[in-house]
Amino acid sequence: MPEETIRGLLAGIPLVALIVDPSERIIGANAEAQALLGRQIVGRHFATILRQPPVIDALERCLRRQESTRTRLLSSEDGQDVTFDVSCRHIPDLGALLCFTDVTPMEKAGQMRRDFVANVSHELRTPLTALMGFIETLRGPARDDNVARERFLQIMEGEASRMNRLVGDLLSLNRVESQERVRPSAEVDLHGLLKSTLNSIKPLSEEAGVAMKLIAPDNPVLVAGDPDQLRQVFTNLIENAIKYGGSGGVVDISLTSKDRDPALRAPSARILVADKGPGIDPVHLPRLTERFYRADSHRSRELGGTGLGLAIVKHIINRHRGRLRIESDLGQGSVFTVILPQGTAAAN
Ligand SMILES: Nc1ncnc2c1ncn2[C@@H]1O[C@H](COP(=O)(O)OP(=O)(O)OP(=O)(O)O)[C@@H](O)[C@H]1O
Ligand SMILES: [Mg+2]
Repeated sequence: MPEETIRGLLAGIPLVALIVDPSERIIGANAEAQALLGRQIVGRHFATILRQPPVIDALERCLRRQESTRTRLLSSEDGQDVTFDVSCRHIPDLGALLCFTDVTPMEKAGQMRRDFVANVSHELRTPLTALMGFIETLRGPARDDNVARERFLQIMEGEASRMNRLVGDLLSLNRVESQERVRPSAEVDLHGLLKSTLNSIKPLSEEAGVAMKLIAPDNPVLVAGDPDQLRQVFTNLIENAIKYGGSGGVVDISLTSKDRDPALRAPSARILVADKGPGIDPVHLPRLTERFYRADSHRSRELGGTGLGLAIVKHIINRHRGRLRIESDLGQGSVFTVILPQGTAAAN
């Protein structure tokens, strides 16, 4: 086949592609291949360019036995691992055509799914193990001990409701994720929503001895949103402020609206939830909204937290095309800022 034709053919393949002849020399490589493997690869022996044994092996089998083979190539780009699927197709009278497909995103998604399943199993197993232990004790040593039975049942109830919360949070996360591309469109008055959210949290704050203060403009602040989901955002943030920052005695909530917010380059509503508690070590901040991530896992579990609250918050805010900012330092308290675009849904 004329060299010209080979070059044209390779240029038409939208993947890293190269052709190796039966003497294992590279006789053609497209621009994508040269970007990955180097400019001067045509004419070189294949094994001097791609040294990984599985790739050499797959190519040799393809050339010798004239069959199609497939393997993986691990590489790195800017310090990040990159995985390619490599296919070798035998082409009569020419040799082997190698195509590389970048499968890194698929590999990452697979890893995330495995991590998620492992995390969920671990989170469920802990209360389940406790429940099983207490059932055994109630059947055996504590069978006739009324006082112990009452106490154990109470702990069991706590563990069961923890599992219930976890499953509820997982379902809620699932729902939010599946709607993430659907823009919410109801007209929501944030001032009214915050007032009613605070009302429903009042029993919790009173029990914790924490005062909640709301500062908001007199007029309604309107956004296009999903009122139930926004309520969930504010509930999660204020509950966290009470649970983890309640030692400061006060949680300040403020609502402001801006005609032009630099964070969105559009009109916005900003909701701040600030506490004067122990704060969060900055090392945790970038990962705080990951599922199951806890800054102080012991204290969070003790308080019945599932570690999913902020993950749900982030997804809801993403759905509203807003931003979440977290500012905190040890001994400085924490400020969680929600920035939501204001105006009609169509305008954003
Ligand atoms: N105001 C705060 N002050 C200090 N630490 C906080 C604050 N808010 C959140 N955190 C930390 O961030 C972690 C993650 O919070 P998140 O709301 O996602 O989970 P959780 O509260 O443990 O569980 P859930 O909200 O599902 O009950 C918490 O475990 C806590 O360590
Ligand atoms: Mg929480």
